[in-house]
Amino acid sequence: MLDLSDLPHCTRCQLSTTRQRVVVGSGPARATLVVVGEAPGRSEDEGGEPFVGRSGQLLTRLIVDELHLEREDYFITNVVKCRPPANRTPTAVEIATCRPWLEEQLALFSRALVLGVGNTAGRALFGYRGSLASVRGRVFATGVARGLVTFHPAAALRGGPSVVEMMREDLQRLRELRETS
Ligand code: URA
Repeated sequence: MLDLSDLPHCTRCQLSTTRQRVVVGSGPARATLVVVGEAPGRSEDEGGEPFVGRSGQLLTRLIVDELHLEREDYFITNVVKCRPPANRTPTAVEIATCRPWLEEQLALFSRALVLGVGNTAGRALFGYRGSLASVRGRVFATGVARGLVTFHPAAALRGGPSVVEMMREDLQRLRELRETS
């Protein structure tokens, strides 16, 4: 079993040779919501905090608007804890190698609802294979997590208001789920 106190010094994969910092995640120990993204980008690699760059700021704002939660109210992390060079998508091997850390973290929040942000996170959490568009709005309950998936805010920054609107709908669904569970 892994000890989460070792995560900041992890060298389990090649990303440890190019990263500046391991981006462990942040939030309160008693969080009832866990947000999981793909992997740190440049700002996160420099600062050591998840989702602090441009797309993170959009996500933070949407969660305030739709769930009425501030950053200090939920735990936020990524499937892969180290920045892939040039922000490429993490490989299947990197995702699998980092997975035990994610599972250790999720085990700490076993009663929390989990929001997967983007397809990499959604697939890692909920185990589906298809496109994100085809599973949006579905509530998953797997051995690792219960919750749903929405678009990555980077896709919203590229795709414009219609993607932001779909993210808002997904977050409203999550809010209903929080209120009824
Ligand atoms: N994108 C992610 O998926 N995670 C981050 O922490 C930043 C950008």
